[in-house]
Amino acid sequence: MRAVLMREQGGPEVLKVEEVPVPERKTGEVLIRTEAIGVPYYEIQQRSGALPAGELPAVFGHEAAGTVAEADDAALVGRRVVAMSMAGGAYAELFVAPREDTFPIPDDLDAVNAVAAAVPASIALALVRTAKLAKGETVLIEAGGGAIGGYLARFAADQRIIVTTGAGKAASVEHLNPDLVLDHDDPGWRAKLPDGIDVVFAAIGGPETTELLDRMTPGRGRILVYGLLSGALPSITAADLLPRGLTMTGFGGMGFIADVRAARPPALDRVAGGLRTAIDRTYPLDEVAKAHQRVESREVSGKVVLLP
Ligand SMILES: NC(=O)c1ccc[n+]([C@@H]2O[C@H](COP(=O)([O-])OP(=O)(O)OC[C@H]3O[C@@H](n4cnc5c(N)ncnc54)[C@H](OP(=O)(O)O)[C@@H]3O)[C@@H](O)[C@H]2O)c1
Repeated sequence: MRAVLMREQGGPEVLKVEEVPVPERKTGEVLIRTEAIGVPYYEIQQRSGALPAGELPAVFGHEAAGTVAEADDAALVGRRVVAMSMAGGAYAELFVAPREDTFPIPDDLDAVNAVAAAVPASIALALVRTAKLAKGETVLIEAGGGAIGGYLARFAADQRIIVTTGAGKAASVEHLNPDLVLDHDDPGWRAKLPDGIDVVFAAIGGPETTELLDRMTPGRGRILVYGLLSGALPSITAADLLPRGLTMTGFGGMGFIADVRAARPPALDRVAGGLRTAIDRTYPLDEVAKAHQRVESREVSGKVVLLP
């Protein structure tokens, strides 16, 4: 089968389409013939070396939608599904994913929209559920122009919402009806925040995250850290949190996966019901390097999807 193999981390050119053996499916896994493959931002960081990429060479990618070719349960064969695997292997004609991370695609949802939305919508729903938002709270959504940020804004629509986005991109988040939009490419953006922020969905990270603390509601403010778009996690410590009575929770790895799995069916239903994320462009698998360049350029408005 054709697949994108990564032998080393580096620029987009390290991603090469090659003929590789069909992956072996083990018990508890599903073999999927892919129709659409997602390119989330963290994969840009894994490819470039900003995040670890595991053992190489390996078939790259973590999210795909398609049709089940093999499964323990024969009734699943032929079903349209969307799946993700932390073990990689999604940038390929055939992809093995854990059964527990494979979900039926609701009718009326095509593969491109399913893969674009499944992971961000379910992560956003899990985050919003964990935040236990109270009516009227003020919520800061970092990188609101991204897929997860967009769903966070829509799932927290009853709150007062502050959204950050890249320079010149404020118009792209207008549909989220934010109360305030700040440009996160401006190094001084945190100084422009109002007081009384109750919840921060923190995707950017870095040492400057501490600048948020004095804007947060003492005793009630909570920071939910789920991304490190700047390349570094927030450098906040207990010594920062304790005197202000704030909490900070990390969302990642196996500790968060149960919440994300539980959120996936209701999130997919919301997507099928019309809560889509924008599709920026699709690229054939052969143009995987162009797809990565496009996401990395940050000129995108919406998701980039590969077609095998
Ligand atoms: N914890 C988890 O389980 C989990 C799972 C998946 C993803 N994530 C993380 O969630 C974050 C967002 O993912 P996504 O899928 O929503 O991304 P996406 O749809 O690909 O969008 C990327 C977003 O990142 C922003 N961005 C890129 N570089 C940035 C920088 N240096 N500073 C500030 N913003 C920057 C872009 O903003 P502009 O172009 O508007 O500037 C855009 O909003 C990523 O950090 C990813 O690693 C976490």
